[in-house]
Amino acid sequence: MSLNNIEEIANYIVSDGKGILAADESNPTCGKRFDSIGVESTEENRRDYREMLFRSKGIKGNIGGVILFDETIRQSSDDGTLLRDIISNQGALPGIKVDKGLQPIDGCPGETVTVGLEGLNERLNEYSSMGAKFTKWRAVINIGDGIPTDKCIDANMEALADYAKCAQDNGMVPIVEPEVLMDGDHSIDECYAASVRSLKSLFEHLNNKDVNIKGTLLKPNMVTSGKGSSNQAGIDEVAKKTLDCLISNVPTELPGITFLSGGQSDVMATAHLDAMNKIGGFSWKLSFSYGRALQAPALKAWGGKAENIFISQDELSHRSEMNKLASLGQWEENLEDR
Ligand code: G3H
Repeated sequence: MSLNNIEEIANYIVSDGKGILAADESNPTCGKRFDSIGVESTEENRRDYREMLFRSKGIKGNIGGVILFDETIRQSSDDGTLLRDIISNQGALPGIKVDKGLQPIDGCPGETVTVGLEGLNERLNEYSSMGAKFTKWRAVINIGDGIPTDKCIDANMEALADYAKCAQDNGMVPIVEPEVLMDGDHSIDECYAASVRSLKSLFEHLNNKDVNIKGTLLKPNMVTSGKGSSNQAGIDEVAKKTLDCLISNVPTELPGITFLSGGQSDVMATAHLDAMNKIGGFSWKLSFSYGRALQAPALKAWGGKAENIFISQDELSHRSEMNKLASLGQWEENLEDR
């Protein structure tokens, strides 16, 4: 595959309904996922699990990019094949998470800023030499009493813009991820307001730092009710409010929006994406960059046992196909009956 610049890379990742498999869980997060199936989170188990995912048949044609964690981009399978080459051989591009996690903000209880700008250029240089074509940085915005504050939003969006510029200077596409968390009992309208403030600030900062929007992908949350809210918005309301928020705040020249799943169930994340694509009326590709919503059924089916590899791969293939259909607005609920 010959992709000559960041604009071509970004367009390829979201072409023809393709989306992204987020497999960039840090070791502690991967530990939590493995705890849920009673598997120890060793380097070898993490490698075996991810190798299994990357070799799934359904990656081909449905997944345009896979986001990796630092450990994984360096790992090889037992036969010596680099995991990142397994991904490329499936027609997907390897990408890498490059932020260094969250730090509390002084004077802003309950809020964090994502760190990792120090040494970023050197790290990006190395990842590029390993064949990474795109990168990801996640900012986290919490909703609560008096939060998010402007200070938190501004610090996070400025760091996202600095990172994005640096990634592009190294020839890689930045995925900018301003995640408004679903945690809490807030209403969908509070999520809408926090998402609007975050996106406005993000695109102002990207503009100020001369980031090339045509060579960037946005990974936002959908606009939903908080997980703990007793008044859960339905699929149509989520789809309409998410689209309204994006259409008013995201430049039309952005090639693609690839949602995070953020704790939605796997089928709900697909249903929401499909509903938005059925409504239409936007210029960007509207696709997925799911972690849990792509992996959860595969993780459960695997259970750490080699004899479950095929059934687990089948689960990932199915979710990949369903989300591709949703990115094209062609998913139907009865396709989930297997
Ligand atoms: O940064 C977040 C992950 O890449 C996406 O994970 O779909 O489970 O929220 P999620």
